[in-house]
Amino acid sequence: MIFWFSQTSIAYKIGSFRIKENQLVQIGNHILKNNLVVAPMAGVTDRPFRQLCKKMGAGLAVSEMVTSNSLLYGSEKTKRRANHEGEVNPISVQIAGADPKMMAEAAKHNVDNGAQIIDINMGCPAKKICNVMAGSALLKDEPLVSQILKAVVSAVDVPVTLKIRTGWDKQNRNAITIAKMAEDIGIQALAMHGRTRACAYMGEAEYDTIAAVKQAINIPLIANGDITTPEKAKYVLDYTGADAVMIGRAAQGRPWIFREIDHYLKTGEHLLAPTVDEIHTVMLEHLHDLYDFYGDLTGMRMARKHISWYTKGLAGSAQFRHTMNTLQTIELQLQAINDFFAELKAKNDRLVYIDNDADGAESNASEALAA
Ligand SMILES: Cc1cc2nc3c(=O)[nH]c(=O)nc-3n(C[C@H](O)[C@H](O)[C@H](O)COP(=O)(O)O)c2cc1C
Repeated sequence: MIFWFSQTSIAYKIGSFRIKENQLVQIGNHILKNNLVVAPMAGVTDRPFRQLCKKMGAGLAVSEMVTSNSLLYGSEKTKRRANHEGEVNPISVQIAGADPKMMAEAAKHNVDNGAQIIDINMGCPAKKICNVMAGSALLKDEPLVSQILKAVVSAVDVPVTLKIRTGWDKQNRNAITIAKMAEDIGIQALAMHGRTRACAYMGEAEYDTIAAVKQAINIPLIANGDITTPEKAKYVLDYTGADAVMIGRAAQGRPWIFREIDHYLKTGEHLLAPTVDEIHTVMLEHLHDLYDFYGDLTGMRMARKHISWYTKGLAGSAQFRHTMNTLQTIELQLQAINDFFAELKAKNDRLVYIDNDADGAESNASEALAA
């Protein structure tokens, strides 16, 4: 049974801006509050970050991938990834692996631990994952894809979603075949990154294959890849006809991007940049969540990369980021942030980015490949 549902769409114009309203994405029994999804990112979309993004406007946030290897269920890392205490619904957990039976077991295990949606990773190009023929490497083996999807869908009674790339490489863009197969098997939404496995993170994401897949299936399609601004989100939605967009790297250090895009899609207008005070508070709350979630030492270390993303491009941040990585206690970390924000506030009430470091994208991409 297909649970895709779209309320009557009302389109109207403000100036030259065309707005569509009341198109709700439904995955199983979950109606999303909007069409903005946080991409699964290993090492990033932990519970504190997912909660924050949902608070700041995302309709859905997919967890970091969880291994399907049951031998690791007891490990601290895997237990932490299965911890959803206090998380706003719907809770979507991504599983990764290449063995149908193990993937089915992993799906059951995560549902028992609170997952309300199971997402299958066939989109991640990380070597660690592809070397065991999981993640996007699976796209090469269509019969195995079919077995995994069937095994997982029949193992759980929550909706199962799938994340893929456009294909294995540019000569083998088999996304349409995989998408149709997924729909027939009972997958209830498909997220698609507009690159092949071989493209890794190079070049620009392409949206033609996503548009073609949208024409071929009836389940909700979530477009992903290089969406960094409200305008780009609107462009991708219009160009592909996708039902939702998924945002990864652009949300790092800027979780408020979701409310900015949401507002723009609904009104055609931009929100003002957030105030320095607001983001200072958001960041402190985020860091305290990280300390609570990981414990002081690991939390302090995990916080470093988020602090670096939050401050990238802000006045004086290069020196600040350098010093930050040498600080060894929570107290010093928090004090440095308070000092940095006090200086920032003396210059402006609102956040002003003076430099959108080009090296950000590269370092993120290599992190993803290592993930
Ligand atoms: C640090 C990092 C970790 C990632 N981990 C995963 C993962 O665990 N599972 C997955 O399906 N994709 C993973 N991805 C890919 C993203 O979900 C997304 O498809 C990709 O970053 C493209 O979207 P973007 O241009 O909005 O970042 C990761 C990406 C990054 C940057």
